[in-house]
Amino acid sequence: MRNILVIGGAGYIGGCLTDQLVQKGYHVTVFDCLMYEERFLKNVPFVYGDIRDTDELVTMSPKYDTIIWLAGIVGDGACAQDPGLTYEINFHSVRRFLERTKRRLIYPSTCSVYGAQHGILHETSPTMPLSAYAETKLEAEKVVLEHRGMAFRLGTLFGVGDEYSRLRLDLVINVLTYKALKEGKITVFGGEQWRPILAVRDVASYFVEAVTRDYNDVFNLSMRNVKIIDLAGIYKNIFPDLVVEVVDMKFEDQRNYQVSTEKAEKAFIFRPKVSVEEEVHRMLDLLRSHRIKNPLDPRYYNTHFVRATLDEIRGS
Ligand SMILES: NC(=O)c1ccc[n+]([C@@H]2O[C@H](COP(=O)([O-])OP(=O)(O)OC[C@H]3O[C@@H](n4cnc5c(N)ncnc54)[C@H](O)[C@@H]3O)[C@@H](O)[C@H]2O)c1
Repeated sequence: MRNILVIGGAGYIGGCLTDQLVQKGYHVTVFDCLMYEERFLKNVPFVYGDIRDTDELVTMSPKYDTIIWLAGIVGDGACAQDPGLTYEINFHSVRRFLERTKRRLIYPSTCSVYGAQHGILHETSPTMPLSAYAETKLEAEKVVLEHRGMAFRLGTLFGVGDEYSRLRLDLVINVLTYKALKEGKITVFGGEQWRPILAVRDVASYFVEAVTRDYNDVFNLSMRNVKIIDLAGIYKNIFPDLVVEVVDMKFEDQRNYQVSTEKAEKAFIFRPKVSVEEEVHRMLDLLRSHRIKNPLDPRYYNTHFVRATLDEIRGS
């Protein structure tokens, strides 16, 4: 049975990916610096480490048949706190590791590499990164592909991944769920912009299948493209008295793209299954039962938490 190293496995995607890989019988080791977490409780081998420590990763890598590299500073706002640091962590760490090991990686990039463009975007469409986050993901994606790897341009994720890992409350569907419950009102910025969306558990399922494939290619992954304003209808069905406020678009919400998933549909058997409604209800169960004691804790928001711990991240 294959040994799999999940770098950044303590994160939002990593939590449910680790669970699904273990369920399939793989031997999974998680490597992570626990940027947001106080503890790692999953019953799998764990290596506490930093991806900037190329020597450590190079030394341990031969033990693993497959390496999935999820770690990085994630999101436009979090990466904007220190673009130089973002380049070091999100790009140079990946580049150094690959140049030394020549290993093949399974790697999540982002549909943010498309920036703001009209029409349906394919993997061959021009890229137009609008942030340090998108730039570094695109650069890392290139170096992954040069080393026979597989990269996925993920849409905006939503939902609850697993039982232990941090829920991200900075993703549009997750944050709207919290606001609808807590304030009875959601604010949509612009709203006409398109985004591809996908449940975090479905991403994990794609990655599980990816372990069995040896493509050297890049794939868009999404369940469907939605207009942000159309998401409001889902919340209206659940909260009939909900107030939906539409305000002018903030600069950081200018991303606007629809993607085609035709290529992934040809290459993979898996099809996204998890609906927005299902995950909204799962999040509401967690929030209503106060299992997330303080949903406003910066820990649930990459930008706030990275800003608050920047010195620690720089120095670690
Ligand atoms: N969540 C999304 O909507 C989304 C969309 C597109 C792409 N992605 C990509 O998927 C990957 C995982 O995203 P996520 O949502 O799980 O993010 P996350 O922030 O929840 O997890 C990232 C993990 O990486 C770890 N990490 C960060 N810097 C590290 C370092 N220097 N050394 C070791 N570990 C480090 C963190 O501790 C964390 O556990 C990222 O590469 C991200 O760019 C995510």
